[in-house]
Amino acid sequence: MKTLLLGGGGREHALYWKLKQSRRITTLHAWPGNGGFPLESVPPSLASTGAAVGLTSGSTPTAGSGADSLDPNDPASVRAFVERHGYEFVVVGPEQPLVNGVADALAGVCPVFGPSAFCAQLEGSKDFAKQFMQSVGVPTAAAAAFTEAGAALAHLRALPEGPVVIKADGLAAGKGVVVAQNHAEAEEAVRASLERQVFGAASRKVLIEEYMAGEEASVFALCDGERAIPFVACQDHKRVHDGDQGPNTGGMGAYCPAPVATPAVMEQVQKEILDPIVAGMKAAGHPYRGLLYAGLMIENDRARVVEFNVRFGDPETQALLRLLDEDLGDLMWTAAAGRFTPDRSLRFRPGVAIVVVLAAEGYPDAYRKNIPLKGIDRQEGDIIIFHAGSRREGTEILSSGGRVLGVTAAASTLRAAREITYAELKKLSVAGLFFRRDIGEKALKWI
Ligand code: AMP
Ligand code: GLY
Repeated sequence: MKTLLLGGGGREHALYWKLKQSRRITTLHAWPGNGGFPLESVPPSLASTGAAVGLTSGSTPTAGSGADSLDPNDPASVRAFVERHGYEFVVVGPEQPLVNGVADALAGVCPVFGPSAFCAQLEGSKDFAKQFMQSVGVPTAAAAAFTEAGAALAHLRALPEGPVVIKADGLAAGKGVVVAQNHAEAEEAVRASLERQVFGAASRKVLIEEYMAGEEASVFALCDGERAIPFVACQDHKRVHDGDQGPNTGGMGAYCPAPVATPAVMEQVQKEILDPIVAGMKAAGHPYRGLLYAGLMIENDRARVVEFNVRFGDPETQALLRLLDEDLGDLMWTAAAGRFTPDRSLRFRPGVAIVVVLAAEGYPDAYRKNIPLKGIDRQEGDIIIFHAGSRREGTEILSSGGRVLGVTAAASTLRAAREITYAELKKLSVAGLFFRRDIGEKALKWI
């Protein structure tokens, strides 16, 4: 099966690594990729345009001033490229192409792993997600949506003083959420969104949401339109500094399985969260095919939904795929084709996997770029290093993003996985990059 993978972050590098092992996939191309992808991953017609792997890893990567072009965020461009080159399967990594309707554009052309634009609203609009959850009875925080600052502030003032969460409705690169400790902070966040539009179109509408206490974890599920088959739970580390301090990031590290998601929680997540979403989408006439990411807040062995994403998490995927003991290409194709059998579950290797992100100094604010990356090639053994914000320039690999590398390890225990990973990080010590030293620490209390 000739397959095209869209995206170029750490998640896609891990997906590429795992899909390369699939017996179902004969040819695997990726675009735009990054500096960790081999040259053979570049669609041949794009290699000649002068764009090396990852060279275009900007926000709207388009290749080809010349004969051929492919912009993953443009559904028409993807469709034309797939038709022109006879791809038989497309795997969409990031959310933006899905929200833009890439899966819809490929209908009738070839199977695609990734949901339709309708389903992708679960990530693309927090208001849509909240209303959908409420309509199918999925447990989540109470919330109200506003487009006008006066009404939002009046609503806020009527709430009891205390923590409250303000969310920009649309995609804001993970930055649209403010967990306000008090009403003064919440008011400032409302004004920033609705009066100053700091997130542009994404913040024309905001949600004022009940604050949920607890511990976070996420459960990803492969969905085929009828069924949702979960992976083991993960725990991401969103704040930039140790001890969950500092601003939010895309994720500084993760491990799995996350023991906070006990068997009782996993059962509840299946029955009260995953199943109702898949059934609700089917009933709405939009079967959900692809990956559903449920971000959870867990308290007293009960999960409520913080957010949905419609694609694999980054960096959680880099850890999860180290444990998945299955042919991912086969699984994704079966999901896309709507063909899971009723008793299907996923097989994982025993043990624990961890990923620690190496980020460029300054991230998540303005960060250093073009840091030379040397001696970081590990593609097999206990340690595998996935690239994220990197690009190839001639024979050199340079950093190009905030999150640059993900160092992963799989081992029999969390302690062992942490030891191997941090020993490796000590050896690497790339100037200009930093990492959190406490990834996975929260799980040690369960052992
Ligand atoms: P989101 O982009 O929706 O995942 O939100 C980013 C982060 O804000 C989450 O990972 C949580 O740590 C936090 N957060 C979002 N919503 C809530 C909530 N209702 N209660 C507490 N924390 C929240
Ligand atoms: N690591 C969080 C996310 O992928 O959204």
